[in-house]
Order: sequence, then C-alpha cells, then structure tokens
Amino acid sequence: MTAFPPPPLRDRLLDPSGGVVYHLRALRHRHRLWAPFHRVVAGWLADWQPPRRELVIVGPNAGYALPAGFLARFEAVTALEPDPLARWLLRRRRDAAQLRFGRLDCLATPDGLAHLAARFPAAAILFSNVLGQLDAPAADWQTLLARHLPRHAWASYHDVISTGACPAHREACTVSGAETLAATLARFWTDRQLEVIDHRSFRLTGSGPFGYAVWPLTPRCWHLVEWARHRPADQA
Ligand SMILES: C[S@@+](CC[C@H](N)C(=O)[O-])C[C@H]1O[C@@H](n2cnc3c(N)ncnc32)[C@H](O)[C@@H]1O
Repeated sequence: MTAFPPPPLRDRLLDPSGGVVYHLRALRHRHRLWAPFHRVVAGWLADWQPPRRELVIVGPNAGYALPAGFLARFEAVTALEPDPLARWLLRRRRDAAQLRFGRLDCLATPDGLAHLAARFPAAAILFSNVLGQLDAPAADWQTLLARHLPRHAWASYHDVISTGACPAHREACTVSGAETLAATLARFWTDRQLEVIDHRSFRLTGSGPFGYAVWPLTPRCWHLVEWARHRPADQA
C-alpha cells in the first residue's frame, strides 16, 4: 500500500453507473421489471451471514436492491456512495439508524482496496452491483480482491455481461463446479450468436459456489448478475 491516501469519493450526480438516470429508472421499474431480480438479491443476502457486527457497503445507491431490514442486521454500517441524492434517500430508510457515510474511494486506485481493508479491519464488505460497472484500476477485480481482502468476509453482486437480447430462461441458479462464461450464458440465452458486452467480472472469487440471475435494467437491456462471496481462511 502506498503512503499516499487514496482519492476521496467525490460527489457525482451524473454518473454512468448511477446518478439521476438510475433514480429515474428505479422510479419506473423497481416495483415491476426489477422486482424478480430484487427477490433473488434478497435471498443471496439472507444466506450471507458473515460473523461481523460491522458492514461496509460499496455503491449502495439509495438501497433499491436491499431488502427492508438488511441494514439493521449490523451494529454499524458505513456506505461509500458518490451520489448525493442516493445518500439522501438511503439515509431515510427505516433500517438506517446505524448508517454513516464514508469518503474513501476504494475503487479508483490499484491500492484502494488495501486502504479499505486497513480503514475497516473488522468489517464485512458488500460490493453492491458496482464492480461490474467500473474498470479495475490495475490487473482485474479478481486479482485486486485476492491481493487486498484475503482476511475480510466480503460479498459482491455485479454485472458479468449485458446484452440487448431477451433471455430464454429467467430462473436464477447456483453454479458450484468449474464452468466457462459461455456455458453459464447458455443457462439463460439460447442464441448461438449472442452479442454481449463483457464486464470482466466473471467468477470474482477463486472458487464457487456462484449465484446467477438476470436483471432487465430496461426492457431492452439485460444484465447477467453474479453473486460471489469470500470467507477468510479462519472463518471457513
Ligand atoms: C449500478 S448502480 C447499483 C446501485 C445499487 N447498489 C443497486 O443494486 O441498485 C452502481 C452504484 O455504484 C456507485 N459508484 C460508482 N462509483 C463508485 C465508487 N468509486 N465507489 C462507490 N460507489 C460507486 C454509483 O453511484 C451507483 O450508485
């Protein structure tokens, strides 16, 4: 880790991975189009029970995908979120009594995750649909997570690919063994010539199991979202 502090998280209301456009989409879609995906996320989070009293959540936005009561599971919650409107809305959740906001941008520099680990040594960390949205500042997210967070309990749900093609199958699934991205995609899409944008976040941990679900960001833009979690060796 460098001696230099990482850049502070600057306010961003117009952000390609969030911002005003995301709030307008949430307003329009969260109770219908996004609801099946949010039910899957609620199941992933219910199964995730890290033995930690403190949580850091990276990129929660307004918490649209977080089930009611989730934040209250922890005695202290720090959210790292650059969107001021999202922070204002998140603060108003009924389960947000223990919530505070941090100013660390842990995703902008190669050692950002090392600063995150050092600043929150006892916390579990949830990356909330953010890692598939941003390019890793060095190598790839798999490498940076393995290098800097081996002793933290962390979990992430993140975009693996996005595509304009509607999936043939929408049922979420869990994959335990080795599987290529093409094989995982074939669980949902049957098109032989599927055109995708690869978000370079397939299989974020060395081993599974991994959860997969499809999320229609809009009726014409589908994402495959992965759920990955890491348990430190002393908690295995
Ligand atoms: C696709 S949205 C996901 C929002 C929410 N977690 C959800 O599942 O609906 C990505 C979020 O990451 C936030 N974000 C972008 N860059 C970030 C950074 N460097 N650190 C923390 N959050 C960031 C955006 O403001 C946005 O709220």
